[in-house]
Amino acid sequence: MSGTLLVDNIGELVTNGAGEGPLGIRRDAAVLVEEGRVAWVGPSASAPAADRRIDAGGAAVLPGFVDSHAHLVFAGDRAAEFAARMAGERYTGGGIRTTVGATRAASDDELRATVRRLRGEALRQGTTTMEIKSGYGLTVDDEARSLRIAAEASEDTTFLGAHVVPAEYADRPDEYVGLVCGPMLTAAAPYAKWVDVFCERGAFDVDHARAILTSGQTAGLGVRIHANQLGPGGGVRLGVELGAASVDHCTHLSDADVAALAGTAHSDGSGTRTVATLLPGAEFSTRSPYPDARRLLDAGVTVALATDCNPGSSYTSSMPFCVALAVREMRMTPAEAVWAATAGGARALRRDDVGVLTPGARADLIVLDAPSYLHLAYRPGVPLIRQVIRNGVTQ
Ligand code: NIG
Ligand code: FE
Repeated sequence: MSGTLLVDNIGELVTNGAGEGPLGIRRDAAVLVEEGRVAWVGPSASAPAADRRIDAGGAAVLPGFVDSHAHLVFAGDRAAEFAARMAGERYTGGGIRTTVGATRAASDDELRATVRRLRGEALRQGTTTMEIKSGYGLTVDDEARSLRIAAEASEDTTFLGAHVVPAEYADRPDEYVGLVCGPMLTAAAPYAKWVDVFCERGAFDVDHARAILTSGQTAGLGVRIHANQLGPGGGVRLGVELGAASVDHCTHLSDADVAALAGTAHSDGSGTRTVATLLPGAEFSTRSPYPDARRLLDAGVTVALATDCNPGSSYTSSMPFCVALAVREMRMTPAEAVWAATAGGARALRRDDVGVLTPGARADLIVLDAPSYLHLAYRPGVPLIRQVIRNGVTQ
């Protein structure tokens, strides 16, 4: 829809820019939207006229959530595996191969329908930017088509051909890594912005991960990595070594890992160049200990929160759920959690056009059915997202 849009009568506006506290809060505020961008932010009482108006009625308004880690291209589900875990079984990542089988057997349209369904589900819960990974195809053609389908739904697509060694390569992992670094990367790169590796015992070791990530860099992709989810290891330090935008999971960290992340701090005090993205939905759904966000924050590391939406370890698309978990289980304050789910996610994707509500930013806003962002953690499980505006368009 063309013309200007004014969202006014906002009781509490989270800008993540200028304003009160780390969330840049403004009270009794208004936001003017023009051509999909934020054109003006200021007091509601002195707001300019606009073609259309949304009266927030004193409610809280936030930047749309930026979910920087999700695996949406898959077929089937693993509800039975979840039930077995809740009955005491451990999560090992071994179930990935089950989803690979179902994904390979699915048609393009089936995969597309799943991506649309989950992307829509996330949008209704306030997610206006969502990264999408491949990783359940694991052949040249299935990875390329996964990314082609992901690119229909997101600007931030990630090649995860190194999710697990597929069964047909089980006794030839080096050969599989050669395939990922060569023909698979060539086929995937036109549809991908990022490259990722599941660097973990039982998946890919540090040497394999380094080979794959540096090949991706040579092909023009940015680096992110699944690291230190199931146990300690060298994944986080490898991510730092390669200048990764984000190291994801970070559940089992040594002091050296935390120091390496802290060592990527920008000199202007604006946080770290490599972000630690925490995925509490995975700990919830695998009944694992949560990462210690407080330890990272106290060391000055920039933290993001994301859903990790996938059929195995975290089948949730809900950023509000992750915010609530982070506050209750990971010792984040509500303000830190909301920042991590918005501006933090943007930092993990190296984007400055989303995650903030300042002039020039993309007009991605959520209006809460609540007077304050605090309610996202205070009222867990309650559908508090009253209205979503993405790119200036009401959804
Ligand atoms: O981020 N850890 C690796 N990948 C996913 C899980 C994938 C699956 O179990 O299907 C994750 O948790
Ligand atoms: Fe993941």
